[in-house]
Amino acid sequence: MADREALAWFSCFRFDQPWTRELEDEIRERLLDRVIDGLEVVGLWAGGELCGVAAWRIHGSTDPVLCRGDIVAVDNARRRKTYGRRLKLEMMMAATRAGAAAISSRVHRDNVAMRSLNEQLEGVEEDDEEDPNYVLCVIPLGVSERL
Ligand SMILES: CC(C)(COP(=O)(O)OP(=O)(O)OC[C@H]1O[C@@H](n2cnc3c(N)ncnc32)[C@H](O)[C@@H]1OP(=O)(O)O)[C@@H](O)C(=O)NCCC(=O)NCCS
Repeated sequence: MADREALAWFSCFRFDQPWTRELEDEIRERLLDRVIDGLEVVGLWAGGELCGVAAWRIHGSTDPVLCRGDIVAVDNARRRKTYGRRLKLEMMMAATRAGAAAISSRVHRDNVAMRSLNEQLEGVEEDDEEDPNYVLCVIPLGVSERL
């Protein structure tokens, strides 16, 4: 119940980052309900405050097994303190444990922070053919030095 309350106050919306509006609604209102459908969700807490969340899904029936990274979001008041990196690394470790060969995610083209973080983690980008505003990023797993 504490998690639900903290999620309801989670704040990542910024006017200059329009994709964060839908993301914040998703985190506040729907995230925990999606766990029942197989979404994995973790929260990063410090001093009793929820600082960030990450969510992903393992696609175990594909060959190779793949992980779809759904969300990495840090509370507005806590950005640029390494929480985003730690959450993405946690996702990478969990996906590796589940046997996934890579993590793929969609990122808004203007999302400099997430694209830079993915690049740091050796992500490779390609255009999203379904939406020119987005890129698809694939981070190969199994290279242990990053984890
Ligand atoms: C993307 C996001 C999760 C990054 O989290 P964060 O905790 O602020 O970032 P970190 O402190 O872990 O930074 C890790 C790296 O990300 C990159 N980065 C983070 N913020 C950045 C910014 N404002 N500009 C450029 N690069 C940035 C840098 O490469 C940084 O490494 P460095 O500090 O060594 O340069 C955060 O900006 C966020 O929550 N954004 C809104 C939600 C969102 O768009 N999520 C992605 C789609 S689900």
